[in-house]
Amino acid sequence: MLSLIVLISGTGSNLRALLDATREPGFPAQVVAVGADRDAAGLEHAREYGIPTFTVPFREYASREDWGAALLEQIRGFGPDLVVLSGLMRLVPHNVVDALTPNLINTHPAYLPEFPGAHGVRDALASGTDRTGASIIVVDGGVDAGPIIVQERVAVLPGDTEESLHERIKPVERRLLVDTVRNIANGLDLQSLTTQNS
Ligand code: GAR
Repeated sequence: MLSLIVLISGTGSNLRALLDATREPGFPAQVVAVGADRDAAGLEHAREYGIPTFTVPFREYASREDWGAALLEQIRGFGPDLVVLSGLMRLVPHNVVDALTPNLINTHPAYLPEFPGAHGVRDALASGTDRTGASIIVVDGGVDAGPIIVQERVAVLPGDTEESLHERIKPVERRLLVDTVRNIANGLDLQSLTTQNS
């Protein structure tokens, strides 16, 4: 059974989908803890499931690396096989990447390398493109630049707002995330993906 830690900043709807999937009979992974960089509303999903939570408030640390060290300490306490960034709206520092990659993956609401960064949906809409997407990647220290595990296109429709487009992307992200976790639990080799792309 693959053990996961999920890190969030927001409402955690993708976390919720993952938690629901892990409760299905035969799903080969379990969430052992959920962490956040702030008092995120999505921590409630973990509490509802009786899963331990932790918060490492970014603003309480003098540097990104200090924050990363505190985050790592929490993560190591649970000894997970995989860490999933699911809407963690912070760049993770190199000490975290070095300690965890390739067992550190991220979901992103765009078809990378298109529209990286904190505003992937807004930037796609502003560009005037008629298609964007969702991606799951290995985190490698760049901004949404790591090896792509899986991605899928989502159409931008006339009249879309950032919110309506994001709400159409999220179900795709959830499906890709659940499939990816299942595939990793069943032997998908993240290390070889990282080596291929380096
Ligand atoms: C998701 O769309 C995730 O891909 C995005 O934040 C949303 C979180 O939603 N992450 C990023 O944009 C990271 N660059 P949720 O809190 O409802 O799961």
